[in-house]
Amino acid sequence: MNSQTVRIHAFGGPDQLVLETVPVASPAPGEVCIGHRAIGLNFIDVYQRTGLYPNALPLALGMEGAGVVEAVGDGVTHLAVGDRVAYASMPPGGYCERRVMPAQCVVRLPDAISFEEGAAMMLKGLTVQYLLRQTQPQGGLHPGDFILFHAAAGGVGLIACQWARAMGLRLIATAGSDEKCALALAHGAAYAINYRTEDFVARVLEITGGAKVKAVYDSVGADTFMKSLDCLAPFGLMATYGNASGKVPPVDIGVLAAKGSLYVTRPTLFTFLASRERTQAMADDLFGMVTSGAVKIRIDQRYALADVAQAHRDLEARQTTGSSILLPQGC
Ligand SMILES: NC(=O)c1ccc[n+]([C@@H]2O[C@H](COP(=O)([O-])OP(=O)(O)OC[C@H]3O[C@@H](n4cnc5c(N)ncnc54)[C@H](OP(=O)(O)O)[C@@H]3O)[C@@H](O)[C@H]2O)c1
Repeated sequence: MNSQTVRIHAFGGPDQLVLETVPVASPAPGEVCIGHRAIGLNFIDVYQRTGLYPNALPLALGMEGAGVVEAVGDGVTHLAVGDRVAYASMPPGGYCERRVMPAQCVVRLPDAISFEEGAAMMLKGLTVQYLLRQTQPQGGLHPGDFILFHAAAGGVGLIACQWARAMGLRLIATAGSDEKCALALAHGAAYAINYRTEDFVARVLEITGGAKVKAVYDSVGADTFMKSLDCLAPFGLMATYGNASGKVPPVDIGVLAAKGSLYVTRPTLFTFLASRERTQAMADDLFGMVTSGAVKIRIDQRYALADVAQAHRDLEARQTTGSSILLPQGC
């Protein structure tokens, strides 16, 4: 069987993304074949396209999708042909009609969650799950605590605003326009700062009455890292988990002492998804948040799979809000 699949043959700009017909093998032991109904777009796809996160070429991109199990390899016991499923998973290869992949990070999708929502929420929602629930400052996070969350109107960001509200946290959002700030507020942020026009450190001090925040969740990277440290209360936690504006430059670790015995972590979702049991537990938490209505998955951009280059341009140009999905032909 074949699949229309987006691959790159060299690292570079969106023009490197080529839709090709590639053969799909039968699943080996531990693998499944999934026929996609919808595919998630993530900023990590950009890092892989440019080579910031290196992979062997040619490379099929895409780490998130939802669809139907078409074939199951030996030893896979938690999935069957015909199951509705979704995943966030290594290796890349999700920009396609169908793919064979490890079954470990593939989970059954509750009936109440559509394929489009599944494709829009797995990578971003599981990221929020591990950030807010499992990447906490010493002593944990408690209702009323202030946290700072950058790029809060994006795919990860709008889920985080809602999840933080459900936990009773006072999330201070940053975003790149007044419209994006309004969106973050409408999704549960307690405060929003347009970090293109306002000094976010000064505003955080003002909002918290000088007490600063217990944790910063920073996916913007180069542009925000150092200033984010100035927003942290003593013993605060800096979770730097992305590089949308470029990689964080090398840091003199003594800065952490000078700014109040701070903690820094550089987590990645794929450490948290290392076992099937952990993946299922995190997915169950996410599905619970969505089916209860506490978190709504907002899909603001839909593209045909063939228009993936435009989707990348929009994401990199900060033109998108919420989640973006790609739709394979015939769906
Ligand atoms: N480590 C992990 O486990 C993990 C997992 C998932 C995602 N992430 C990271 O989380 C972030 C959000 O991912 P996402 O897929 O949901 O993307 P997204 O937030 O929808 O899009 C990225 C946003 O970053 C902001 N940004 C700030 N400076 C930018 C710049 N120079 N160029 C482009 N964007 C810039 C923009 O929002 P404003 O205009 O509001 O600034 C933009 O919309 C990404 O950095 C991603 O790598 C990390």
